[in-house]
Amino acid sequence: MKTIQYQNGILNLLDQTKLPTEYSYLECKTYQEVAKAIVDMIVRGAPAIGVTAAYGIAIGAGAIEAVSKDDFFRKLEVICDTLRSTRPTAVNLFWAVDRMHKNALSNREKSLEDIKHSLIEEAHKMYQEDVETNQSIGKHGNLLIKENTTILTHCNAGALATCDYGTAISVIRTAHDSGKNIQVFADETRPYLQGARLTAWELKEAGIPVTLICDNMAGHFMKEGLIHGVIVGADRIAQNGDTANKIGTYSVAVLAKENKIPFYVAAPVSTFDFTIESGDQIPIEERKPDEVTHIKGIQIAPLDISVRNPAFDVTPNRYITAIITEKGIVYPPFKENILKLKA
Ligand code: MRU
Repeated sequence: MKTIQYQNGILNLLDQTKLPTEYSYLECKTYQEVAKAIVDMIVRGAPAIGVTAAYGIAIGAGAIEAVSKDDFFRKLEVICDTLRSTRPTAVNLFWAVDRMHKNALSNREKSLEDIKHSLIEEAHKMYQEDVETNQSIGKHGNLLIKENTTILTHCNAGALATCDYGTAISVIRTAHDSGKNIQVFADETRPYLQGARLTAWELKEAGIPVTLICDNMAGHFMKEGLIHGVIVGADRIAQNGDTANKIGTYSVAVLAKENKIPFYVAAPVSTFDFTIESGDQIPIEERKPDEVTHIKGIQIAPLDISVRNPAFDVTPNRYITAIITEKGIVYPPFKENILKLKA
């Protein structure tokens, strides 16, 4: 299974809106198609969005017909802005766009052909780095997992949300592969159902025992003593460790603390936003009401009703036991220890 596949100027994205009932790829030949695929959540998950945007820039730059270098860079700026405006919360998107833009600027003296080629190479590099980063997250995180453990996860922080392995799911995979008898409880994750549609499917495909529960069942199973740890991914982590992740993560973190269960966040360093001091500064995406009033096109609520649909929430650092990164495990005091990752 490959979430993102680039070949000869075409980006094929595994269509995550169709899983688990249909396994198909959407072909993107222009940067506008790539941007639309991010908006439409054909591809989703912070690291996957970042690498997809990088390929979008490479594809867009490749098609630029410029009369001068200045003209090329003006047009490149438009492409970067289009991709930046797709989704606001996952910082990996902005990190990836900035890295691609810097790559082009650093090659300014070269020919346009060389600049375009270098952008494709940079996107490939980001893809490969993401795979390696996730393997490292898995190895570090595995040190925290005991034998015979049941882990609860929320949303999908798996291979589908990255270039491979996942972040939270990479920890689970690594523990499973090392023979630790790992069971997973997957929250369904309303309204978009990433847990039911994606995590349950991905874990089943990987042969990892998974039990699907509705979001409002997590507290019950924690109280019953069936959950030994929680691992989730992240979309943006502030300097103080406050973490934005899929809506509902905050509730799970509070329940975990109440039940004295460790709550871990697994994320690459590219998910840290070193420019913001706390989670209060994280922009939260608000999505369309019909994701709440309908499930797969079927109306489940009165129409014309007031609806709120924030796609993410922020878990304050005091609920987080540790953050698992490719550089190692970060414990409180987060402010001090997160800064060390920047180096
Ligand atoms: O709206 P989504 O599906 O893009 O949200 C995804 C999440 O919240 C993930 O947990 C997060 O991006 C981490 S993915 C490794």
